[in-house]
Amino acid sequence: MKKTVLYLIIIVAALTGCTESEKTFRIGVSQCAGGQWRDKVNSEMLAAQHLFEQNVKVTVVNAQDDTERQICEIDSLSDAGIDLLVVAPNESAPIADAIARTRQRGIPVIFFDRKAMTDDYTAFIGGDNVEAGRTVGNYALSLAKLQAQAGHRPLVVEITGSMGTSPAQERHQGFAEAMQQQDWLDYQPLFSDWSATEAHKKVAQLLAENRVPDVVFCHNDAMCTGAFEVVKGTPYEQKVRLLGIDGMPEEGIAYVQKGWLAGTYIYPTHGERVVRLALDILTGQPYEQENPMEGMMVTPDNADIIALNSRELMHQNHDLVTVQDKLEDYLGLYNTQHKVLIGSLLSILLLLIGVLLTWRAARQQRRVHEQMKRLSEEQTLFYTNASHQLKTPLTLIAGPVRKLLEDGKLKSEEQGLLEIVGRNVAQLETLISSVLSFRKEMGSTVSDETAAEAVRQGAPADAIQESRLALLKQEDTDELPSILVVDDNDDMRRYLRTLLADKFYVLEAADGQGGLKLARDIVPDIVVSDVMMPVMNGLQLCKRLKEDAVTSHIPVLLLTARSSEAQQMEGYEHGADAYLTKPFRADLLISRIYNLVRSRQQLRHLFEASDTMTQPEASAIDESRELVDRPRPSSQDKLFADSLKEAILKNMSNPNLKMDELGDELGLSRVQLYRKVKALTGLSPVELLREMRLQRARTLLTTSTKTVAEVAYEVGFGTPSYFSKCFKQLFGEYPTDLRAE
Ligand code: FRU
Repeated sequence: MKKTVLYLIIIVAALTGCTESEKTFRIGVSQCAGGQWRDKVNSEMLAAQHLFEQNVKVTVVNAQDDTERQICEIDSLSDAGIDLLVVAPNESAPIADAIARTRQRGIPVIFFDRKAMTDDYTAFIGGDNVEAGRTVGNYALSLAKLQAQAGHRPLVVEITGSMGTSPAQERHQGFAEAMQQQDWLDYQPLFSDWSATEAHKKVAQLLAENRVPDVVFCHNDAMCTGAFEVVKGTPYEQKVRLLGIDGMPEEGIAYVQKGWLAGTYIYPTHGERVVRLALDILTGQPYEQENPMEGMMVTPDNADIIALNSRELMHQNHDLVTVQDKLEDYLGLYNTQHKVLIGSLLSILLLLIGVLLTWRAARQQRRVHEQMKRLSEEQTLFYTNASHQLKTPLTLIAGPVRKLLEDGKLKSEEQGLLEIVGRNVAQLETLISSVLSFRKEMGSTVSDETAAEAVRQGAPADAIQESRLALLKQEDTDELPSILVVDDNDDMRRYLRTLLADKFYVLEAADGQGGLKLARDIVPDIVVSDVMMPVMNGLQLCKRLKEDAVTSHIPVLLLTARSSEAQQMEGYEHGADAYLTKPFRADLLISRIYNLVRSRQQLRHLFEASDTMTQPEASAIDESRELVDRPRPSSQDKLFADSLKEAILKNMSNPNLKMDELGDELGLSRVQLYRKVKALTGLSPVELLREMRLQRARTLLTTSTKTVAEVAYEVGFGTPSYFSKCFKQLFGEYPTDLRAE
């Protein structure tokens, strides 16, 4: 999960990084004026924005021949935070201060086409104006020579641009150089400005003075148009040869083609080279401070081809601009999509982080919850353990105290003190039940298995136990009923013995296993057992007793601190006949024990001859036992009764039938058989056998034609007379009386 998030962050960072890291170089261009030539330069510079690998933003401003305005515009560009200034100064001197201010801000300055009167500039790029003047001068000479050959002294006039600008000064310098020492002609420089109007005026004045020039050189093509206006349509139109500078396809070159001009000098623009130089400066590449650009002379001889090339170049530039515009559109689209993508990725990232944080918070909460639950379980366990462990000692205090009080043999002071003990024990009992019921309300899941108190091992083996055992192993002790007490707490056993000794033969075991063995050996009349014990607990003991044919009939009373309903139910599911929770009242325990013992002896009907008993009668008897602590005969007991009955019926005719033989047939010892039969029927096996013989005899007498003697022998009596005597004893009449009926 964390890795995925990390990858996403890297991708997003990479994507955003691509756009962020590339700087855009802002180039400010301050043009002195407008016009075709400058329009061309400007469009070349704008097109060059996308020509190089760096991001470039070119901003052009035009001062419209106004020096003050240009100064303001230069300052504004600097304020706007341009990275480099390209400037074509309107006038060289007044602009110098604005340039100095720009330089002070650390902004590089490129002079383009024109220079200012300062050495503090980064580089210059533009046409070589001295060379331009010289070239045009030489061409003027060649034209003038033609006139001179005709015997005429030619007049060459130069009309300059504003002499406050560097191109005018340099063009004049070059032209004047060419005119130097040409004594075969007259050379007349006229100082003007860059306007067509002034040029118009100058030529008109010459003509008015009757000084018709042979060659007129104007410092640019625009001025030539003014001069041409004067001669156009006059006889001078063919005579006066006009020369200009700039060589724009639609302007100068077209005029040459039309024959209006005798020639023009292509003053190079190359806006792309200006941008290249600016980028070299901005990116720390090596560059030249002076970068002159080459121009060339256009005459009627080469005008057509140059015009063709120029137009071609112009078209290509136009196409380039179109392509660039489209590219810009696509770039815009790309940038938008790019931003959307980054936005989406960021959202996904945030979402993932959100999910991650939520998940972690939930996990944290779950852990805290589990910890609290565990803590609360441990607390509950502690309270449950403590409460359970208090119950046995409480019983052992409350019981004896009650017994002492009931005996009434105490002095009144002792009686009073014991009553205090009794009251406080009762209070403690209430407190413990509150703790346990609180725990129940809390819905604790702690099982009582885990709450089992640490149990101690140990087995009672005292002389009384031994002698009682010996006595009980005899067939018919026929005095007190026997009780087996199973509890691992020595004091509890001692207390129970004290309570029960005068009414029962009390036998003891310290755990379920010992208890099970004793129960099988002596077949007690009842078992009272604790639940939580070492080796084998009370529930297991109970289950084993109920599964065993020898002991299945023995009522089991569970005596325990496990007080919940679920726990009691568990006890009954294991076959318990009664359940008494600690702390208990001694009298309640004793009456319960009596009840259980008595209920067992009511199963005698199971042995009554089945052929003398109808089904509804049997059901009625079963239903009458639906009382508390009066369990119906278990399936084990019924099974035992059936097999015993079957064994007796099978062997009935044998007058010497021994109880040992019957026991063998059922897999029981003589004592086991005796005690089991006695417990279930209240009769000894011998008595039960005699009763069943007589029952059978009665059936035979009423349903067959056999003689009394035959019947007596068939049911196992040695002599008919003894049979008659016993029959009379049981049924109140002699067999012969019954026959007579
Ligand atoms: C345009 C212009 C051109 C000339 C140049 C000199 O403003 O007058 O005609 O060649 O400037 O700087």
